[in-house]
Amino acid sequence: MTSDLPLQILGGISAREFLRDYWQKKPLLIRQAIPGYESPISPDELAGLSLEEEVESRLVIEHGERPWELRRGPFAEDTYQDLPEKEWTLLVQSVDQFVPEVAELLEHFRFLPSWRIDDIMVSFAAPGGGVGPHYDNYDVFLLQAHGQRRWKIGQMCDTDSPLLPHADLRILAEFHGTDEWVLEPGDMLYLPPRLAHFGIAEDDCMTYSVGFRAPSAAEVLTHFTDFLAQFIPDEERYNDADITPVSDPHQIQQDSLDRLKALLAEHMSDERLLLTWFGQFMTEPRYPELVAGTEVDEDEFVGALEDGAVLIRNPSARMAWSEMDIGLMLFASGQSRLLPSSLRELLKLVCASDALHIDNLGQWLADEDGRKLLWELIKQGSLEFADE
Ligand code: SIN
Ligand code: CO
Repeated sequence: MTSDLPLQILGGISAREFLRDYWQKKPLLIRQAIPGYESPISPDELAGLSLEEEVESRLVIEHGERPWELRRGPFAEDTYQDLPEKEWTLLVQSVDQFVPEVAELLEHFRFLPSWRIDDIMVSFAAPGGGVGPHYDNYDVFLLQAHGQRRWKIGQMCDTDSPLLPHADLRILAEFHGTDEWVLEPGDMLYLPPRLAHFGIAEDDCMTYSVGFRAPSAAEVLTHFTDFLAQFIPDEERYNDADITPVSDPHQIQQDSLDRLKALLAEHMSDERLLLTWFGQFMTEPRYPELVAGTEVDEDEFVGALEDGAVLIRNPSARMAWSEMDIGLMLFASGQSRLLPSSLRELLKLVCASDALHIDNLGQWLADEDGRKLLWELIKQGSLEFADE
């Protein structure tokens, strides 16, 4: 099985071993995970992205107007002329959505569900630059893409870990280093959630962070119950038709709690709604305004594909699929669709292929349900014509 093959990206262990021994558990340093990796974008191009309105970027200047000064983009062109020679970092979020060659890196991580991946953040740091000792609540693979960076790792943290007083940055007040390494281009460090870490640029350096998304338990509960509530009629209430005379009218008794628990359990165990909510939630795009959609008529889009046009996944769109007793579900950028089982192979193709065209779509263009699905995804903005 492919999951048992040794993978270079994991330093020669298999995906199965990595997930069993390291994922969400402990760090792993992988020398030459991608041998001789060269950043597909230059520091100047990264700075260029930080000038764009739709791109989320931050600058952390260690000795700015105050210690660890945080500035948020978009930045003006002259921002970079006025920066010190050393000890600052530019961080640009979701570069994978703007640079296809960066998105290609994600192909190495296909042993994990794609809907767990959040984005690829790219940082550039001047010598000595770093964002301070901190921890993140998500897993991250830190790929060194240019120059050298010294990574230090420390203790496991939680919400009780003391932080420096800072309005915007969560910098740890204490860092108990346990290990450190200097990473060269192509080296990669995997860090589990909540492990303290601290990267310091040895020279001009770029680091790619492949970050994952995992909803907090509090988010799952609040979002799912909000979603559920839309389907529950107001007349459905706490019900005690089985009540017997009470011994003390002021007491809340166990049987009342049992009725509440039954009410909760009945709704919480609705797997169909749970899946619908989860699929929508996990495919919510980071920048919904970039999944705008377009009006196109059905004959026009079929005609265009027949004439050789290529459909690509909108780089800002997120997709996943699932199957239940009621049929197939496709989740695309925060929306769900219930589809007939006959579309299974088309769903897999739509989720997995970078490009859809007459050669791989073939028979699906002649299938009414298949055509309708593609059409809806174009109108919604999850798919778009390559030349647009
Ligand atoms: C960085 O690339 O400078 C910071 C990445 C991180 O520590 O999460
Ligand atoms: Co971090």
